[in-house]
Amino acid sequence: MGVLSWPSDSELDNIKKIVAEMAGVDVNIVRIVVSPYRICPLGAHIDHQGGVVSAMTIDKGIILGFVPSNDSQVLLRSGQFSGEVRFRVDQVQLLKNDAKSNGKIQQNDSLSEECKWGCYAKGALYALQRRGNHLKQGITGFICGTKGLDSSGLSSSAAVGIAYLLALESANNLTVSPTENIEYDRLIENEYLGLKNGILDQSAILLSSYGCLTFMDCKTKLHKLIHPPKVEMEKNDDTKKAYKILLAFSGLKQALTTNLGYNRRVTECRDAAKILLTASGKDVEPILCNVKLEEYEAHKSKLEPDLAKRAEHYFSENMRVIKGLEAWGCGNFEEFGKLISASGLSSIQNYECGCEPLIQLYNILVKAPGVYGARFSGAGFRGCCVAFVNAEYAEKAASYVNNEYLKVQPDLASHLNQDTVVICDSGDCARII
Ligand code: GLA
Repeated sequence: MGVLSWPSDSELDNIKKIVAEMAGVDVNIVRIVVSPYRICPLGAHIDHQGGVVSAMTIDKGIILGFVPSNDSQVLLRSGQFSGEVRFRVDQVQLLKNDAKSNGKIQQNDSLSEECKWGCYAKGALYALQRRGNHLKQGITGFICGTKGLDSSGLSSSAAVGIAYLLALESANNLTVSPTENIEYDRLIENEYLGLKNGILDQSAILLSSYGCLTFMDCKTKLHKLIHPPKVEMEKNDDTKKAYKILLAFSGLKQALTTNLGYNRRVTECRDAAKILLTASGKDVEPILCNVKLEEYEAHKSKLEPDLAKRAEHYFSENMRVIKGLEAWGCGNFEEFGKLISASGLSSIQNYECGCEPLIQLYNILVKAPGVYGARFSGAGFRGCCVAFVNAEYAEKAASYVNNEYLKVQPDLASHLNQDTVVICDSGDCARII
């Protein structure tokens, strides 16, 4: 395995110091969770339909320093957001609609405006309780994400949710498998926060391994790690890597939970599935993975134009993922990249989830020197685009994109906290270190 550049010793020391001061304890007893951000080279918007996806983590993400608090109290501060979050793990977390006023129950709308960021920690407690875990130990913690990269389509929300899950589990001596944590994070997002997303994000964060592509079948929940081609494994030296990952930031930041577009598209996919399943005489859950390719081909003419486009995206994207795994396995980055760009185009034309700045970034990236392929990093409504680039051209491509984006979006580009493009490497899975 190559050398992981993130998190650095100084980042860790800094966070340990802050937590030690908050809790009045020695720095040596502070525990650390690292929870990386993820990219999804292929498999856009098909996880919620039980499709197949590919993913990888990067060498940036969330760090949560914490100590068990010796009672049920949770006290959290954040490097990005102001205020303090306080709640007790022996209070039952319920969804807004379920809450009864018996004093012991805490609703998910009970945070002050200033501390809305605390909903992920409360969501983690909700998920653990929902699956029958009774927690006694709270935590005192400080959470911090890589500067400028939050709310960017790198799945910072899943990285944060997982960080809190791992910390609460560690403080309460709970042994929980990655598969169970995938389900717990699904409960945070689908039930506690109301986003109808799939399991791509948390699977990537919990299952990835340095340098590998993670393949996940979201219907069967089976996954495998596809090792990089031999040449990559022999060369641990960073400068000799065959590829680098480019993140190109649009400057648009809006949480997916506040954007209606995501859930609307999920509903459209389900509507398409309903029509195709009825036409095929099948009475099963209306998600597109329950429709066979032959059934889709036989009945797709029954779909009205918008639904036909969503279904076309699903079936073509599944195919691209399968072809992409093969290309990755043989080290054929050109082919892998072409599939990524085709996925990007299908997101724009069939899934219709882009927004102007992200589509502009996509068009700039695919023309940049050495870029194998590019697409929206997350859902495409905000955040960044991701690209794979020949490592030797990474700097050149980055400066090309910085210049070109500034021309088309001068306001957004000049308000970014960093250059439009950040060059990254792959990362490892979420873990306690
Ligand atoms: C977001 C969601 C994921 C997935 C992607 C699009 O990141 O959280 O579940 O649907 O968008 O592929």
